[in-house]
This record gives sequence, structure tokens and C-alpha cells, in this order.
Amino acid sequence: MQLMLQEILESCKHLTRKGQVAQYIPALGDARSDCLGITVIDMNGHVFSVGDCQEKFTMQSVSKLITLMLALIDNGIDGVFSKVGMEPTGDPFNSIIKLETLEPAKPLNPMINAGAIATTSLIKGSGTAERLERILSLIRKLSKNPHISYNERVYLSEKETGDRNRSLAYFMRGIDIVKGDVEEHLDLYFLQCAIEVTTRDLANIALCIANMGKDPYTKEVVVPEHIVRIVKTFMVTCGMYDASGEFAIRVGIPAKSGVSGVIMACVPDRYGIGVVGPSLDDKGNSIAGIKVLEELSKRLKLSIF
Ligand code: DON
Repeated sequence: MQLMLQEILESCKHLTRKGQVAQYIPALGDARSDCLGITVIDMNGHVFSVGDCQEKFTMQSVSKLITLMLALIDNGIDGVFSKVGMEPTGDPFNSIIKLETLEPAKPLNPMINAGAIATTSLIKGSGTAERLERILSLIRKLSKNPHISYNERVYLSEKETGDRNRSLAYFMRGIDIVKGDVEEHLDLYFLQCAIEVTTRDLANIALCIANMGKDPYTKEVVVPEHIVRIVKTFMVTCGMYDASGEFAIRVGIPAKSGVSGVIMACVPDRYGIGVVGPSLDDKGNSIAGIKVLEELSKRLKLSIF
């Protein structure tokens, strides 16, 4: 495995020169575009890492999976899906267009920004600090890393420039999808996006999802199975935004990307995978990261389809 990962890393490295590092959140623009890192962890806990695996990257949209888990734990399935739909969009992740035109008026799914802000607004707790601590503590448990925290610079940078998300949130309050203090919900959303992880942290989280929410070593239930099934389904249908169909055909495993260049992928009952490559395509997905997963899937026959 280690040798195979090294070969895949070398064969995909040139792709880090394609695409662009995300600039619309100014602090993300500082990332080295030539980074590429891969970690694969199997069900026996063997860890295989190559490339830039020590560096931390913000989770960005990968955090949407975790907040969906918490919202489902707090509100139940009906409570969440009365506010947010279950269908893919075919539109970019930050699109505003269908919010007004669709009937009933609610975001199409929890993986686009509007749906994720609505989902985050459902997380219980008194005040931002307590609600953030609940998100962090679930991520620390899933990743087995008690040191996980957020990047203040990236958080403030998105908070200062996040007008599009701000307008989505206020619009959703206008149509009764988001209730309460919109600025607090937005603050929590910007904080969750700025939570920092390595590829190993991502691979550990993915491993628990691949094992239907049970810690593969201790067998402890970290997230109930019926919730993991929902989350894993969204990874397949909406995890790579409006490129999810192509990703399902080329790679064929549940995955979720973030604009920092991270991708978290899980192979049911087999592997948890974390990849990072900050140079993105025009849909907001890591170009080299997708190719790494495509190669890995081909060589190990990972597609679930
Ligand atoms: O809300 C945003 O725009 C970012 N914090 C997260 C978006 C994102 O990661 C989309 N991913 N590919």
C-alpha cells in the first residue's frame, strides 16, 4: 500500500499546477498550491501516509457532514428535513437561485451552503461557544485527535468577506427556514469551516463513517447507524457538488470536498481516506485530489457501484 500511494502521489503531483487555490476567502489564498498529501487507514488501524500529511488545512465544506450528524442527533430526521431537502442541485455550492424559485421554499440539500447554514442553525446549545464545543468534540472523537481546533485567521477572513453566505442566511430567515439570531448561526458556520485537520484526521473520521459510525477498534458507537447512512448517502449524491455524478462514475466512493483542497472519502467496511491538494477546478474540488482517488479506486477496485 505504501509503495502504491507513493507511485500515485508522484504520478498526480504535476496536476497541482493546474487550477487555482481558492481566493474568495482571502486567507485561503496563502496555501501552497503544490501541496499533495494522502492518508489511507484500514479497519485494522494500519496508517499509510505520503506527501504533505503533517500540514493542517481547514475543513471548509467537509464540516457540513459533521454538523448534519449533530443536527440529526438534536432534531431527528423529520426536524431536519422539514427545513432542508434531500436532492442534488446541479448548481454551484454557493448558488442562491433555487432558494426563491422552488416550492416548497427550502434549500435543496445540506451540502450546499444554504442547506448547511440551515442545518447548523439547528444545532442546540446556549451561545456560539457551547455550540462550537459540541461540533469540536464530535470531530475530536471521530478523528481520535483531542487537539483539533479552528484557525482564527481563516475564520475572521471568511467572516469579513462572507456576504454571500450572509445574504443566504437572511433570506432563509425571511422564509422561516432559519430561526433566531442569524449572526450567531453565521458565526458558528464560519467557525466550523475554519476547523483545522490533517489528512490523517480526515482518514480517521472517514474510517468511522466507513464502519457505520462505530469506532473500529473499541466498537463504541460514536454516531448512530441510521444517521451515518444518511450522511454517507449525501456524500454520494452531493459530496462533490455539481461534479458528484462524474465523481461517482470515475471514482465510485462516498466523498466530501472542501475549498481548502481537502477531500474525505470512505470505502464501506474497508478504508478511511484523507487527501489534500489546494489547487481547485471551477467547481471547487481539488484537481490532484480527485485524480489520486480515481487512481486508488482503479488499483484497489474500490468503487461501490
Ligand atoms: O461557505 C463557504 O463558501 C466555505 N466556507 C465552504 C465552501 C466549500 O468548501 C465548498 N467546497 N468545495
